[in-house]
Amino acid sequence: MTIIKAVRGTRDLLPAETALWNRIETTARQVFARYNFGEIRTPLFEDTALFARSVGEETDIVSKEMYTWEDRARAQSEKTQSLTLRPENTAGVVRAYIEHGLGESGQLQKLYYIGPQFRRERPQKGRYRQFSQIGAEVIGPPSSGSESPLRDAEVLEMLATLLDELGITGWTLELNSVGSAADRARYNDALRAALAPVVGQMCVDCQRRAVTNPLRVLDCKVPADQPIIDTLPVIADSLDGASRAHFAAVTAALDAAGVAYTLNHRLVRGLDYYTRTTFEFTHGGLGAQNALLGGGRYDGLSEAIGGPKAPGIGFAMGEDRLVLTLQALESAQKLLKADAFIASLGETLNPAALALARELRQAGLRIELGEGSFRLKKSFEAADKSARAIVILGEDELQSGILTVKTFSTGAQTKVPRAELAAFLNNGSQV
Ligand code: HAM
Repeated sequence: MTIIKAVRGTRDLLPAETALWNRIETTARQVFARYNFGEIRTPLFEDTALFARSVGEETDIVSKEMYTWEDRARAQSEKTQSLTLRPENTAGVVRAYIEHGLGESGQLQKLYYIGPQFRRERPQKGRYRQFSQIGAEVIGPPSSGSESPLRDAEVLEMLATLLDELGITGWTLELNSVGSAADRARYNDALRAALAPVVGQMCVDCQRRAVTNPLRVLDCKVPADQPIIDTLPVIADSLDGASRAHFAAVTAALDAAGVAYTLNHRLVRGLDYYTRTTFEFTHGGLGAQNALLGGGRYDGLSEAIGGPKAPGIGFAMGEDRLVLTLQALESAQKLLKADAFIASLGETLNPAALALARELRQAGLRIELGEGSFRLKKSFEAADKSARAIVILGEDELQSGILTVKTFSTGAQTKVPRAELAAFLNNGSQV
């Protein structure tokens, strides 16, 4: 019989990996709570029209990557409906904001989500057909201050904090402004005019985009097209005074908060709902799929799907990519290990080892408990794989109350009084 395997672009996460996923999610929840965000959970599938009207018919996501099906009516009271597995979650959150009248309180809504998204892309490292996003949206009526550049800067500063707390070093924040809808219309006209004489020399995708949605030409990755794209007008020159002032206020607030960024005038993002600020955090360690997260402002999205005026800004992090990045960083490997492995020298010492483990765990340490029947060599091997240090508990140690601790990163062997052991191992965890 043929073996049934997980579908292409999907994967199982086994305990060695889920430990890291859980740690990422816990850290994200803690950081979001400090910035006063609450969690929202929206359905995994929605009316197809929601994505067509928000993400945009001409985008790659809507035109070729969605899992869509006709949900046939099963009773007279039901209609046949086109449904889609969510390819992203901003549209669903804004739909829920409208449906539940969340703007009616006049308060800014700060919502976060963690969950799977689905896109029928060509799978490769860091790109899957089912992937998970950790995202957040800040949205509200204009009177709530939702349009303020301070909101943009605060979201970006929160992301810098979150990545730092996750232990992700070496990221780059790329920033741009795609202006208001009117600015974009002006820019699209300028692009069309500039593309007309040269588009014949470009790839077939660009030839199509030049007609349907010229902004998307800036996303082109085909090497031969790059010299042509470099000669095209830049969006900054099409921004009106208000959009320029908004962007200048965002960058000024980032400068004041000490969040470093680089300007990238080609960062238009692959979704059509963006206005003004757009951004991505990239990481060199990820290879071709180097975007750890992306986001931006979407001041017209609520109205585009039939809601009230509700400017907003948000982002989504690719959780799969956060995991890949952390796995490659040694600091994270260390964090995943237990603080200590207790090796008792003989089965009669097992109860004393359990008592010691209880003491250390109550002090908040992560402890792996060995087994007294193990030979010392086997305990060392097991400890080296699962913990940062090994604590040896023999008859002498039990009587004297002085334990021998070996720290694997330095190879140092230290005698530590039992009363100081928790503090010693805690400091060791900083190594
Ligand atoms: P996005 O840029 O399409 O934006 O996706 C955000 C992040 O999700 C990407 O930077 C990447 O890390 C991850 N991602 C996307 N596709 C895949 C995939 N096939 N496999 C693995 N990871 C992937 C959005 O989805 C917007 N909703 C973000 C947003 C929120 N904008 C405003 N609010």
